[in-house]
Amino acid sequence: MDGKIETGIRSMEEFNYKDKTVLLRLDVNSPIDPETKKIVSENRINKSIPTLTYLIEQGAKIAIIAHQGDTLDYHNLISMKEHAEKLSQRLGREVKYIDDVCGLAAQEAVKNLKSGELVLLGNLRYLSEEISTFEDAVKLEAHEMLNTYLVRSLAPIVDCYVNDAFAAAHRNAPSMVAFQELLPTAAGSLMFKEISALTKVMETPDKPSVFVLGGLKISDAFGMMKQVLENGSADKILCAGITGHIMLMAQGYDLGEANIKFIKDRKLDVFIEPAKDYLQKYGEKIVYPVDIAYEEDGVRKEVCIEDLPTSRMCMDIGHKTIEILEEELAKAGTIFVNGPAGVYENKIFEDGTKAIWNSIAEAKGYSVIGGGDTVSAAQRFIDTSKINYVCTAGGAMVRFLSGVKLPLIEAMKKAYNKTF
Ligand code: 3PG
Repeated sequence: MDGKIETGIRSMEEFNYKDKTVLLRLDVNSPIDPETKKIVSENRINKSIPTLTYLIEQGAKIAIIAHQGDTLDYHNLISMKEHAEKLSQRLGREVKYIDDVCGLAAQEAVKNLKSGELVLLGNLRYLSEEISTFEDAVKLEAHEMLNTYLVRSLAPIVDCYVNDAFAAAHRNAPSMVAFQELLPTAAGSLMFKEISALTKVMETPDKPSVFVLGGLKISDAFGMMKQVLENGSADKILCAGITGHIMLMAQGYDLGEANIKFIKDRKLDVFIEPAKDYLQKYGEKIVYPVDIAYEEDGVRKEVCIEDLPTSRMCMDIGHKTIEILEEELAKAGTIFVNGPAGVYENKIFEDGTKAIWNSIAEAKGYSVIGGGDTVSAAQRFIDTSKINYVCTAGGAMVRFLSGVKLPLIEAMKKAYNKTF
């Protein structure tokens, strides 16, 4: 993709990096085992390799900044030593690790880089200024972030800034939006791939375009649903998971005390009114479950929606619904998936999710998936190379598809004229 024409973002191939120090912001934030704290999926690490290889071949001195979260958001942040080891393995050359984000040790390591050498600096989330800005505890515009410790320490000792962290594009933090105010700025190759795949889904989908929205993150599903129904990107929304339950409640079905309590306890009932509105406006475009599954004495049972309520927790779509979804997916020209159909980690409730993935793997339509849970679910049931595009982003992808302006994209566009 030509960055200039289509996105307004400069691409990294437009600069000459020989002997230049590049500050490279990656997103290699990876799922980690809660016990061992070891990386369990290397997807984002692998996807960073083309940009790194390009910069190495160009003779750049590469200082990488990146973050790693924890299973409990900002608790017990771990070092990124293992990320450096994995990057070293993939690249076949050492990526040195310094457990310091931008203090004297980090600065020394950056200054000592030679052409083709790499250093990964400490976990950006060690810095409260990174978290407080995007969590809106401290509201700062990009130009007001120039006084942060990170920018003050690193900007003077690098020549340019390359960002290939689309997965964190929704984070208004110094590492993502401030260096663009000062330095020649470009985007890595992954960012263009992500934008290109998502833009195709939004703007030029092959028809019919089908969105499968499941999982527990209903606010994501509803934000996206509103946008893609209003702008005509979606011809069908297949609702599963809790999104499906909300649609049923909006239609007046009584899911039974246990299911209703689950929804109310999480304050997800606020989505019932918007669901009624969408059902009224877009009726046939919204496909919701006709049966749902529960467990009794260790055995899977299903109930048709006409026979509701049930006293049991329903944690998957039923087989009649599966058949309907399979038909829709087989006909689709474009398929986008966010969120599993049920609690697929439990064998009793895996049928819906499994069937959807199998249909997508067989489907002829262009398929795009993204988001941590969705990708993990897909990897469990199919060979994900059968999906046309697996986006590294979760939150950023959902916001992009919901029409929300992403801080990173805005900052990259604004910096278009910041060149050497
Ligand atoms: C992600 O995993 O969505 C990105 O790496 C951003 O991480 P965060 O949600 O912890 O900010």
